[in-house]
Amino acid sequence: MKKNTELINGNVWYDTDGNVLHAHGGHMLFWQGEWYWYGENRTENRYVSVYRSGDLVNWTFCRHALTTDSPTAEYRVKTDRKLRTADGGKINVERPKVIYNEKTKQFVMWMHVENGKDYHDAACAVAVCDRPDGEFTYLGCFNPFGYMSRDCTLFQDGDGTAYFISASRDNADLHVYRLTEDYLSVECLVHKLWQGEYREAPAVMERNGKYYMFSSYCTGWAPNQCRYATADAVEGRWSMLADIGDAVTYRTQPAFILPVKKETGIDYYYVSDRWNGKDYNDSRYVILPLSFTPDGRPVMEYRDEFCPGL
Ligand code: DGJ
Repeated sequence: MKKNTELINGNVWYDTDGNVLHAHGGHMLFWQGEWYWYGENRTENRYVSVYRSGDLVNWTFCRHALTTDSPTAEYRVKTDRKLRTADGGKINVERPKVIYNEKTKQFVMWMHVENGKDYHDAACAVAVCDRPDGEFTYLGCFNPFGYMSRDCTLFQDGDGTAYFISASRDNADLHVYRLTEDYLSVECLVHKLWQGEYREAPAVMERNGKYYMFSSYCTGWAPNQCRYATADAVEGRWSMLADIGDAVTYRTQPAFILPVKKETGIDYYYVSDRWNGKDYNDSRYVILPLSFTPDGRPVMEYRDEFCPGL
């Protein structure tokens, strides 16, 4: 198959076998010289698929990382470990994110889980694997400290401290939880942010010691205005929200922010979903570069293609 030098935003993207790439609401992990892209795959019995790439534009399918038949295991946190509904149907797994725990040598996935019928469970779930491209073991879902938990992300700080961030109180508030050292549970709730502002799809990055959190408003599958806030530390004081991009964020919703280290510095990309609410499996991706003004304000402009030039 011909190698890609770029990906056209909003087109169907294919893996190197020529199959449609399903990694919606996803996340990337850089590991030993390659990127691993995890994301939602709702086809057949699948929940999460993982792909691998050395250049960010040619993606090789690794495997389905989580399916209805994945192994489950009990751990110290009391959870619901069912990967199917009572009538044998599928649950709903959204926005899987994966980080590596240096101390336990485990790849840890957090995600949003629902019962497959509605959004009433509002739970988060954890899965683990000893390699980035293996099948994950599902440790089950729970409500962190009893709270509702929907759209989510993970952020790993430079010192290894990791945070799980998720929409709570029927999406009205955004919670920030510090994770336990093994990343398998929440240690404490460090913030309830932007109460009543209904932020979804959080995505966090750090640049020059400044932290940025991007998020969307809450309008189902329909796109809306992306906004961002900044802080000097994840557990520090976050600013109020400011608009970025156009009024519908170029018809996208944030998935995560991708930092790419180059010899010249770090490039940051806004990786997003262009959802198709009528035909979910035809949802697409849009990846846009983020630039920064001298005083650190992020700027997002539309580009037809994603061309990281690696
Ligand atoms: C917006 C969320 O960001 C998506 O992950 C998904 O939950 C849809 N809402 C469902 O309407």
